[in-house]
Amino acid sequence: MSEELGLTRRQALAAAAAICGVGALAAAGAAPAQAAGRLKVRLSAYPSLKKVGGVANVGALSGRQVAVVRTGKKTYVALDRTCPHAGAIVSASSGGWSCPAHGSRFDLDGDRVSGPTPSGLRKLRARVKRGVLTITG
Ligand code: FES
Repeated sequence: MSEELGLTRRQALAAAAAICGVGALAAAGAAPAQAAGRLKVRLSAYPSLKKVGGVANVGALSGRQVAVVRTGKKTYVALDRTCPHAGAIVSASSGGWSCPAHGSRFDLDGDRVSGPTPSGLRKLRARVKRGVLTITG
């Protein structure tokens, strides 16, 4: 393919990375990286996670919006932001989460507080190692 376009292999790979934005994001180290059902989040890229109770929306995993909550000095919870009632995306509000569609409320850990939702937000597996939170579905 690259020979047909008159590009070297290196030029073709650089162009492909630029189109995907992969090279720039990986080099910056700030954007979460997603691979094979796994989302890697560099915690230092999210100032809101420096304090306990801080919240950050960190991107998508398998098409689902993911948020991280710092629950302790070294503990975090990763949540699927999809409301279990009818699938709207919840937002952080007043020390918890609220659903814009029908008003369900969840505490900061994603547990149900009120509204028509049958359950809390789905919690994802999250593991911290060397400042990187690895989230899996
Ligand atoms: S979709 Fe969230 S309360 Fe209905």
